[in-house]
Order: sequence, then C-alpha cells, then structure tokens
Amino acid sequence: MRQESDFLVIGGGIAGLWFAIQAAQQGTVTLLAKKDVRESSTNYAQGGIAAVSSKEDSFEEHVRDTMVAGADLGNLEIVRTVISEGPSLIEELIRLGVEFTIRKDKKPDEFDLGLEGGHSKRRILHASDFTGKEIVDKLYAIASEHPRIRLLDYHIAIDLLVHPRDRNLAPSEKKCWGAYVLDIQKNEVHSFVSATTVLATGGTGKVYLYTSNPDIATGDGVAMSYRAGARIANMEFIQFHPTCLYHPKAKSFLISEAVRGEGGILKLKDGTTFMENYHPQGCLAPRDIVARAIDNELKRRGDECVTLDITHRDPDFIRSRFPNIHRQCLSLGIDITQEPIPVVPAAHYTCGGVLVDASGQTDIRNLYAVGEVACTGLHGANRLASNSLLEALVFAQRAADASLRRMKEDEEPYPRLKDWTSGHAVDSDESIVVSHNWDEIRRLMSNYVSIFRSNKRLERAKRRIDALTGEIHQYYWDFLVTSDLIELRNLALVADLIITSAITRKESRGLHYNINYPVTDDEAWKRDTILWRGYR
Ligand code: FAD
Ligand code: SIN
Repeated sequence: MRQESDFLVIGGGIAGLWFAIQAAQQGTVTLLAKKDVRESSTNYAQGGIAAVSSKEDSFEEHVRDTMVAGADLGNLEIVRTVISEGPSLIEELIRLGVEFTIRKDKKPDEFDLGLEGGHSKRRILHASDFTGKEIVDKLYAIASEHPRIRLLDYHIAIDLLVHPRDRNLAPSEKKCWGAYVLDIQKNEVHSFVSATTVLATGGTGKVYLYTSNPDIATGDGVAMSYRAGARIANMEFIQFHPTCLYHPKAKSFLISEAVRGEGGILKLKDGTTFMENYHPQGCLAPRDIVARAIDNELKRRGDECVTLDITHRDPDFIRSRFPNIHRQCLSLGIDITQEPIPVVPAAHYTCGGVLVDASGQTDIRNLYAVGEVACTGLHGANRLASNSLLEALVFAQRAADASLRRMKEDEEPYPRLKDWTSGHAVDSDESIVVSHNWDEIRRLMSNYVSIFRSNKRLERAKRRIDALTGEIHQYYWDFLVTSDLIELRNLALVADLIITSAITRKESRGLHYNINYPVTDDEAWKRDTILWRGYR
C-alpha cells in the first residue's frame, strides 16, 4: 500500500520531532519510529544542552572548546554556525514549555548552568539529570496534537525509495521519494512516498556489547543512506562515555559527566586518584582522554571497574541535582551520597554519519539527515559533551527551512514507484541465527574495534565482518523481513563502515587511537574519512 505526505520524517528523537513541528507549519508530515515514539537516545539524555547564555561566557570560548575537543578536525564554519544559532532555538524550546533548572541560590532568575568535560565555562542548561525526557515529553505533546502531523510508532524503515531509472546515476542526480517501511504490528510493508525525506534515526551504539544507548540505536539511517549511494564520513570516531554504571543488573545506565562537573572524582578500586597523571584538566578532560585513561588503568591492574566518588558533597545537594541517578543507583543498592559508584566506559555516541551540507542536505536530492545520524562537521574527531542536542536542534531547524523553501520552488509530481515484493522469501524458522550473528558482531566490535585499536585487531575484525556479512546477506534475501533481521543487516553494514574507516586512518586522533600509529599526523590525515558504495 502507498501512503503520501509532504514530509516523511524517520525518527522521533529531538531531531525528528523538531523538524516535524517546523515543517508542519506548511505541509503534511508523517513521522515514523520503530518503537514507541518516545523511545530514543534523546529520552535518556542527562547532562543537558551546551549553549552560551551567561555574561561570563562567549561564543568564541564555546567554539574553541569544541574545536579542541574535536582534535582540530571540526569544520570551523559549522562550529561557529551551530554555536551562534543555538541560543535562539533554546529560547524557542523554552517558549514551547521546556523547563530548564533555575538557580536556587542568590540569582533565582538565572539558569543553573552545568559543567562537563572539555568545557572552559559553565554553560550547560539542564532539567535536573533528565533533560532529554523533559524535551521529548514537551515536543511529543505538541507533535501528537498537531493536525498536520501523523505519528506512527512500531514502523521501521527498511530502505529508501529511489526510482529504479535513477539507480545508476551519480548520488547528486538521484532523488529520494520516501522509504519502504515495515508495519511491525501488522507485519506488512508499505511505500511511504514523500517529496522530502528526513533521516533522524540516531546513532549506532548497539554495534558494541557495552553501550549507554537504548536498543533503537542500530545505525539504520547510516546503512540506508549508504545503500542508496550517499557518502558516509568519519565512522571511526565512536565516542566511549567514561562513566556508565557497572552493575550486573543495570542495562546501559549512564552516570552523567555532570557528576564530575559538580566535583565527582574518578578513583581506582583502592581509592587512589589517577586522572591527574593523564591531563591537566584531570577528571574533566575531554571524553576521549578520560575514557582512554580508565581503559588503560583497568587493563594495567586487571580490575573490572573504576569508581566515581561524589560522597564529599552534601547529600541534599546530590539528591536534588541528580534525582534520576540517585534513584536508579539506590534501586540497585548503591547510595551515591554514601559510597562511590562503580563505572566503566561504554560506547555512547557516533561522531561520524551521513555526510551533509550546512542545511542537513545529503548527497541525494530531497534527502536530509539531522541529529546523530548525520556528520555535519561540528564534532570533528571527538564530540564536546552536550553539543549533540544542540547540533540536532540547529540542523533540524536548518533542514526544515531549506526544505520548506524548496517545496515552494520544486513541485515535481510523485513518480510511479514499485511496491515492495517479497519474491520467494519464506518465514524464517531459524531466528536463533539472527541473535547469534547480532551477538557475534557486538563482541567482535568490543574486542577488536574499541578504545585502543591496532592493525592486527582491525584486520581480524574485517575478516570476521566480511564472513558474517555474506551469511546475513543470504539470510536477508531468503526470508521475509522482520525488524530483527532489518536491524541485523544494518548493524553488520555499520560495523563494516566503522572497521574500514578505522583501517583507512593511519594516525591517532581524538577518539581513534591505533597503537601502530600513536601520533597525530596533520600533514597526511587532517581530513575526513569518506566512504561510499562502490569506493572499494
Ligand atoms: P534519537 O533521539 O536517538 O532518536 C532516534 C529515533 O529514530 C527513534 O525514535 C527511533 O525509533 C527512530 N529510528 C531509528 N531507526 C529507525 C528506522 N529504521 N525506522 C523508523 N524509526 C527509526 N547529548 C547531549 O547533547 N547532552 C546530553 O546530556 C546527552 N546525554 C546522553 C545520555 C545518554 C544515555 C545517551 C544515550 C545519549 C546522550 N546524549 C546527550 C546524546 C544525545 O542524546 C543523542 O545524540 C541525541 O539525542 C540524538 O537525537 P536524535 O534525534 O538524532 O536521535
Ligand atoms: C552526560 O550527561 O554525561 C552525557 C552528555 C553527553 O553525552 O553529551
């Protein structure tokens, strides 16, 4: 069955919701999410949104911190754009009802600004330690009541719709007309046809065994764009968050960097501190440095975790500043006001993604990518903490502006497009194969393509992923699609893109550290790593 709207938005995190609300001012919007619309990385964001809002701060300082964290690979023009356009969009968020925490002390009319690694100033607006949920709840409420927005949950996009006659054209000559989508509950595939398609599918954390990301983060947008011919950039730069809760019963729970911003100290299990040996900013050094330092200490000592100690702060302060973290830890028997929190690094954020221009436009006409799925040039080789929600907001707005402009100029009628056909595919009776391959990919990525990399480990990972990809490819064509199979196929492709990008970069920079090339080589490698279908 074919369904039409002016805009098709794939993803319901901050990027997708913001785009949808803006685009709906002039057109009809269908927004899809593969689980409940509110289930997204955005929903779990804790620390907040980085933006210049105090007199003691300046755009120049935020730009400098972003460039330094990004190991000089960021695009200065984009960095300036995001940082200067962010504050007015945050004002708009507030106007729409998002409530950021206000200072309780001397200046009750000012926002309480948080501090995180790599920031030279306090500049992070937050809603206690559940900033993402506050944003999602407010934007979701607006979108769900909007007469021109249709929200569809449990709908997973499989592939982008490109007219068959365009398939062999250069990406810039191809047009995207929407996506094939599986209605998971009805088990039917539909063509969602649209003059503008927006990928807002988030990150790829589930490619690793240990991650802070929710289950939706399987890199679908990157995989779909790559298959359609768009360029993918900088996939080697996978950010590991230094402090995820280490507990057998905690599935991917983050301990915000804001805890270190409020004085939390990283310690070894015997209580000694170590970050002062690694960086002058100590526990608040940029994330890549802190994660590497922890990984190094764990390997050196054979310990399974380090600890984060904030017990020296007043218990009332801890409970009111970090209610979510306090409650979650307490439910697992850890009282963070009284005892240090066991933590380990875990895959957290994908700095690379679908390459876009300053309006979020990909290589393929009518196809935009916004939020974590995109590579805009803001993060370079390592994202500065809390710059991601900011980037998603600015690029979703820019993409909405550009596509609304284009909508007025370009009124090409929708072409005839082929409906989805399943060919000779049958129901799978071997779903164990899917979970086994999924597990193997995540293990091999965690073992061989993690915080410290080497030529040998990367080559081994490449051999394994090539073999697995062959198996998955066969399986995909023989059996009817399910959401698990769609995600497995995407995870395998994303893993391959990460490994190949890591093999390509023959230096260490930001989040990519290869023990065989430990030095940063600006002359040869101060450039993006770009892959596209057919490059190899
Ligand atoms: P997401 O919010 O991840 O949304 C993705 C959406 O796409 C979901 O609705 C999903 O269902 C949908 N989707 C995916 N694939 C498909 C498909 N094939 N078909 C249909 N739908 C699909 N950043 C900050 O700046 N500050 C923070 O404090 C912060 N804290 C974080 C804490 C945690 C625990 C995590 C995991 C991340 C944090 N980040 C933070 C990063 C930030 O939250 C994310 O980068 C950002 O929210 C991504 O937003 P998004 O809209 O691009 O994607
Ligand atoms: C955190 O709260 O530590 C997460 C912030 C981020 O990922 O930007």
